[in-house]
Amino acid sequence: MLLREKIEQAKQWITQRTPHQPKIGLILGSGLGSLADEIEERTVLPYASIPHFAVSTVESHVGQLVLGKLEGQTVVAMQGRLHFYEGHSLEAVTFPVRVMKALGVEVMIITNASGAVHERIKPGELMLVSDHINLTGSNPLIGPHDPQLGPRFPDMSEAYSKELRSLARKVAAEQGIELQEGVYAWWTGPAFETPAEVRMIRMLGGDAVGMSTVPEVIVANHAGMKVLAVSCVCNMAAGILEQPITAEEVFAMAAKVKQKFATFIRGVVRNL
Ligand code: HPA
Repeated sequence: MLLREKIEQAKQWITQRTPHQPKIGLILGSGLGSLADEIEERTVLPYASIPHFAVSTVESHVGQLVLGKLEGQTVVAMQGRLHFYEGHSLEAVTFPVRVMKALGVEVMIITNASGAVHERIKPGELMLVSDHINLTGSNPLIGPHDPQLGPRFPDMSEAYSKELRSLARKVAAEQGIELQEGVYAWWTGPAFETPAEVRMIRMLGGDAVGMSTVPEVIVANHAGMKVLAVSCVCNMAAGILEQPITAEEVFAMAAKVKQKFATFIRGVVRNL
């Protein structure tokens, strides 16, 4: 079956189960999944029940699509994302983005957790993603070309919308949040980077490193959506401090920042 046909089946299945016609998509990564619990008049659809959706296996990710109202806007949220390191193909990782596009989504807001590579950035801060570096050597668009889904060679020169970034800065200023801005490097994981790899990422121009987001951003751009990505910086990347990195420390920091992060994302959604 063609990808386009799978997207159509998933879209039909979803529209039969919800009255909502979302214009805004949210991909809620580590720590921010609970924002989906605040969506009102909600329709909740577990990934396992949606045709062609893969199921997220990461403990901290719930794995359901939530449609409804947030700050007066109609949204569809992924409560828990799919990662390449779980063994999913990049087509599976980005399939929900395709389905959101089919549902009518024009603006995609993506959150994640990352490690700080640049020493000006500190754990607990939020970083607006201005650009990315794909260090994996892979790309979700590798494969047969379907012109109905987007161009063969999509432009990535403004993958993170300037307009949405300036809106995000305005919201942060109003809320008195210190917002960092920088380049996100995509590392497949699941092993964290070595100190030498972190030095390499810094030399290449990466400010933070993480294991997600970039495939979804590539596909959202391919599909013609505007993208905003915000990273919760949870730790200093390997080798910066003389201590190991643990997933527990990452999740604990994400939990600590959750309230600030959720308020910020709500502020952005309200102003769209
Ligand atoms: N590296 C990669 N991914 C991450 C990190 C990190 O240090 N922290 C949170 N996600």
